[in-house]
Amino acid sequence: MLPPSVLAHLNRTLDVPLHLQVYEGLREAILQGTLKPSHRLPSTRAMAQHLGVSRNTVLLAFEQLLLEGYLESRVGDGTYVTHTLPDTSLQKPEVKPEQQGRQPALSRRAQKLLQVQVTQYLSQPEYRAFRSGMPALKDFPFEEWRKLHARHWKTPPVQLLAYGDPRGYLPLREAISEYLNASRGVRCTPDQVLITSGSQQGLELAARLLLDDGDSLWMEDPGYLGARAAFQASGLNVCPIPIDQEGMQVQHGAEHHPHARMVYVTPSHQYPLGITLSLTRRLELLKWARQSGAWILEDDYNSEYRYEGRPLNALQGLDQDGRVIYIGTFSKVLLPAVRLGYLVLPESLIDLFIHARSLVDRMPPGVSQAVLAEFMENGGFERHIRRMRGLYAERQAFFIELAQKHFPEWLQVQPSPAGMHLVSHLAEPFSDVQLVEEASRAGVTVRALSPSYLHSPEQGLLFGYAGYPEDETILAARDLGRAFSRIRISDP
Ligand SMILES: Cc1ncc(COP(=O)(O)O)c(C=O)c1O
Repeated sequence: MLPPSVLAHLNRTLDVPLHLQVYEGLREAILQGTLKPSHRLPSTRAMAQHLGVSRNTVLLAFEQLLLEGYLESRVGDGTYVTHTLPDTSLQKPEVKPEQQGRQPALSRRAQKLLQVQVTQYLSQPEYRAFRSGMPALKDFPFEEWRKLHARHWKTPPVQLLAYGDPRGYLPLREAISEYLNASRGVRCTPDQVLITSGSQQGLELAARLLLDDGDSLWMEDPGYLGARAAFQASGLNVCPIPIDQEGMQVQHGAEHHPHARMVYVTPSHQYPLGITLSLTRRLELLKWARQSGAWILEDDYNSEYRYEGRPLNALQGLDQDGRVIYIGTFSKVLLPAVRLGYLVLPESLIDLFIHARSLVDRMPPGVSQAVLAEFMENGGFERHIRRMRGLYAERQAFFIELAQKHFPEWLQVQPSPAGMHLVSHLAEPFSDVQLVEEASRAGVTVRALSPSYLHSPEQGLLFGYAGYPEDETILAARDLGRAFSRIRISDP
């Protein structure tokens, strides 16, 4: 007869069809050896009766097991458990420790990667005030986007459905290159544009393709944790370069880390402090890179959000000898989940990056690129930027007003002419990490500044204001004020 486990498998309250439950029960019994090879199964009729299911249910289960080779049918004789099991290796034999095989080892690359803290900057899963780095998700032009998607999916040309150019869809590269030439002073042709799945892929590719394990790279200190993690995971020696009111101190880098082979920099809005790299420093940096043969990675992640005056053009536009790799993203200007970004490559690197891109993930997704290309061509992109610029400027002013009302002693900031967050430095001996925890207990997200430093961390808090409507900002500011007032009483 059947082992009781097959009957035990049946549960009529589950959403799983009964024939699959019978199949699972029999399969498990075979794999565990309760039903032995060459065991003769009862007829489908008897089994159906025994299990209280229809004969058809058992027939379907048998059919699947026969197809997969667990059962064999002997003409005129009945159905048997296959005499040579297809996956006996799946059975878990009792193995003494000394008989156990050796665990396959991880690569040294993987071990290095596991030591890098990636969760630190992704560890706030909640989307709530005042999480920084978030655009106004709910103000995205969903209807326009939906219509574009619907139209492009209706009769997409084959070139968007099959494998395509690893660099990305040409009309999107054209739209990006036109936008960058006009708005950011980037000098490039569509051929130099490589579409990526966000800046992160660009950073990772550049680090891996242009530098070797142990090579040194300059990075602003404090700096962007996402970039730092990618560089450390690639085995690079990240050299912290202090910043002042003019941005990265190039002279410091030249003196202390002269052999660096790459510089990662956020010139238009230093992350996280928001400083603009001065023209003098830009020229100094380009000169040093030229003399020492180093690459420059320019991360221009949210230059669109400037509320006063015109932003300084991109560093890339000043580059005379093809050493700047410009990185852009649609994560801030549209949505992080769009997962599209781009690199603007010097001519000399185009072939290498195409090569690598085709090995990593072949190419970017076809229709998504076509949708974005049209959004850029038809003026939707510019309109969205203009709307968000107005909205974020208002939200910044509103946030400052409320912060001054509810926690004035914790917010020593001036209005910022750019960006999506504000940074407030803390007087010693308060710990920003502790304050973040206190805020979190009150249901408010703020980010600590100190983890962004590699050297001599300063304490501070980052408040993202762009992503949150007035009602949320009002509640979060009130709750944060209460939470912080508790600290003032008991600390330091
Ligand atoms: C400095 C910097 N660069 C780039 C990004 C965007 O990364 P991605 O394009 O991978 O979403 C961010 C997001 O927080 C950032 O702060």
